[in-house]
Amino acid sequence: MLSRLVSRGLLASAALASCVAASTVVTVSGTASHTIPPLLLLQNRAFQQVTADTTAALYAWSAVNGGEISVIADPSPVSSALPNSLQLTIPQGTSGQVGFGNEGYYGMSCLPRASCIQVNSEWTYNASFYYKFPAASSFEGTFTVALQSAEGQVYASATIPASGSQTAWKQVAVPLKPTTSPTSTANNFTVTLNGAEAAGQTIDFAMFSLFPPTFKNRANGMRIDVATTLYEMRPSFFRLPGGNNLGQTWATRWQWNATVGALVDRPGRMGDWGYINTDGLGLLEYMYWCEDMEMEPIMAVWAGYSLDGESLPEDELAPYIQQAIDQVNFVIGDPATNEWAALRASLGHPEPFPLTYVEVGNEDFFASESYIYRWRDFAGNLTAAFPQLRFIATSYPFDPILDPVPQQYDNHVYQTPTWFAENAFYYDSFERNGTYYFEGEYAVISTNETNLYGTIAEGHLMYPTMEGSAGEAAFMTGLERNSDIVFAASYAPLLMNVGNYQWTPNLVAFDASEVYPSTSYYVQQLFSLNRGTEYLPSTLPTYNGTLYWSVTRDATNILIKISNTDSVAAPITFNLPFPVATYGTATVLSGPATASNSPSAPNTVVPVKSTITLGRSFNYTAPAYSVQVLTATIV
Ligand SMILES: *[C@@H]1O[C@H](CO)[C@@H](O)[C@H](O)[C@H]1NC(C)=O
Ligand SMILES: *[C@@H]1O[C@H](CO)[C@@H](O)[C@H](O)[C@H]1NC(C)=O
Ligand SMILES: *[C@@H]1O[C@H](CO)[C@@H](O)[C@H](O)[C@H]1NC(C)=O
Ligand SMILES: *[C@@H]1O[C@H](CO)[C@@H](O)[C@H](O)[C@H]1NC(C)=O
Ligand SMILES: *[C@@H]1O[C@H](CO)[C@@H](O)[C@H](O)[C@H]1NC(C)=O
Ligand SMILES: *[C@@H]1O[C@H](CO)[C@@H](O)[C@H](O)[C@H]1NC(C)=O
Ligand SMILES: *[C@@H]1O[C@H](CO)[C@@H](O)[C@H](O)[C@H]1NC(C)=O
Ligand SMILES: *[C@@H]1O[C@H](CO)[C@@H](O)[C@H](O)[C@H]1NC(C)=O
Repeated sequence: MLSRLVSRGLLASAALASCVAASTVVTVSGTASHTIPPLLLLQNRAFQQVTADTTAALYAWSAVNGGEISVIADPSPVSSALPNSLQLTIPQGTSGQVGFGNEGYYGMSCLPRASCIQVNSEWTYNASFYYKFPAASSFEGTFTVALQSAEGQVYASATIPASGSQTAWKQVAVPLKPTTSPTSTANNFTVTLNGAEAAGQTIDFAMFSLFPPTFKNRANGMRIDVATTLYEMRPSFFRLPGGNNLGQTWATRWQWNATVGALVDRPGRMGDWGYINTDGLGLLEYMYWCEDMEMEPIMAVWAGYSLDGESLPEDELAPYIQQAIDQVNFVIGDPATNEWAALRASLGHPEPFPLTYVEVGNEDFFASESYIYRWRDFAGNLTAAFPQLRFIATSYPFDPILDPVPQQYDNHVYQTPTWFAENAFYYDSFERNGTYYFEGEYAVISTNETNLYGTIAEGHLMYPTMEGSAGEAAFMTGLERNSDIVFAASYAPLLMNVGNYQWTPNLVAFDASEVYPSTSYYVQQLFSLNRGTEYLPSTLPTYNGTLYWSVTRDATNILIKISNTDSVAAPITFNLPFPVATYGTATVLSGPATASNSPSAPNTVVPVKSTITLGRSFNYTAPAYSVQVLTATIV
């Protein structure tokens, strides 16, 4: 039987800075790069980064009723960023509606409901595209734009005039209002013409878009259910553009300026996780996302290193340093004096966005020798340009020795539940010397140490488990205790489309119509919604034990977070330093070690709130594999 004390007697002797701000340990990461942006309905909507005249270039598109389609290298493309067009030829002798369709994201896997296109009669969709006739004709007809089932049942349909005299690109848009909400998401977006009337015509198309309403109605915005789930965690920051999405190669590196402005001016790029990024979620959309979610960006700049191992030599860094400075100016600069800030203003946001932290590269411990000069020149120039900002180094802390001395480091760790519990005291021994830490990526990914770095099939968890989430929570009690030096923390990765993923587990999974918060999501949420303003020193948990806690307070409550990583329940006695109300609440997440929330069992483990009886001294039993917050009102 275990008995733990939280007592006033230890306030003075705790080996910790007393009363440090707990409010800075926060929760959400932008390592969303492992999954498709959850906002797009059409896949391959602009034929970005594909090779024209190949079958592969047509992925996600198919002909309807004998329409002949191909992706061409257009001699008159819609923009220099989008060189490819979809060309439709309607053969002679056809009848009925002829054209093409898009299956949405991950059509191959959308049965029973992995992805594809959700059709919801409560929504009005906005469908748009560009078209032109490569050769003028006398044709006058209509495009029929529709949402329909894979079997051809039409749920929403609208027409747009089509004129053969239109030889310059023209953008057209139409609202689509479905009449029903089918449960299946195996649906298509189609564009067709009357085959008998249009036979023999050839038409080019570019930059399709189909949007349902978005979170806070933001243009190019987020899917409402996904964004709302994240918002309900009350994240304080978002790390962007993804952790590991700055570039596998120099040529494919993320460049902020290729992601802003009109969608037709965004070329897209091969992202770091093996699929093409549309960059429809560009730097400005990221900033609006932060604004709409009431969180701050932690923004990375590309710093001369690509994950293929190539580091730029020192004498070639200058233009990239300038590009990083331009990126920061786009976010915070003064439109009156800076052209990139003026670009931001012209795009609708003259006010600077809030920005405190800029991360110089990503995981530069992979190339630590070259980071010595890259950090020196990037951090040196950025600090000179923006003395008000704080720059985060991404090598191992103090290895190698960097100059200027980093004031912030970003630590990443993917490990077992046992490792996380054993490292609950990781930061306690760090000197308090002006260096601050960002636990930028962490997650339990396996229960078997030998499988940590293997492929997913070799033993990564598919979804977070209760045992893993309890291990993370044990570690997080240590982050909270050390929140005088750990200024931010975020589980990673954040999002996973269950129809197509590169890495497991992830905090939140989703498919075309549902969102599945994991056990680790609820742990992040419990910690985030119950941050104190002060950390209260208490008797410390036992090193390598099974029970971990941290105690904070705000103006009205004592907030006690407890993780029990053991397979048996743990009775605890609390002696509080303040009198508290007779009744408080316990919000408890617990379940069997291997319990997960998954698409087939989404609510296996959810937090349960109950009233508990308190006192200056009270007993509480933490269930096996549990994470909980006890709230006691100070009287
Ligand atoms: C419709 O979507 C299905 C997948 O759900 C796909 O197999 C089919 O090719 C699509 N058809 C069209 C015309 O896009
Ligand atoms: C629909 O999309 C088009 C193209 O992006 C845009 O110009 C138009 O304003 C949108 N309409 C609505 C109602 O949002
Ligand atoms: C972005 O800016 C860099 C220079 O900083 C330039 O080389 C590149 O062409 C620009 N990309 C786009 C798409 O504008
Ligand atoms: C700025 O970068 C240039 C080019 O890499 C370098 O020569 C210079 O020393 C840097 N300046 C500072 C203040 O770090
Ligand atoms: C701060 O402390 C760490 C060890 O915790 C040490 O390695 C580092 O050099 C110190 N930094 C400064 C600026 O003294
Ligand atoms: C851990 O994984 C390795 C490699 O897959 C396997 O051989 C071993 O039996 C596993 N150990 C446990 C305890 O599951
Ligand atoms: C905790 O356990 C780990 C792994 O067995 C061991 O390396 C470490 O020394 C232990 N820590 C303490 C304080 O006992
Ligand atoms: C807490 O539990 C201990 C051990 O069972 C018991 O002696 C004590 O009276 C309990 N305290 C309260 C306040 O119930």
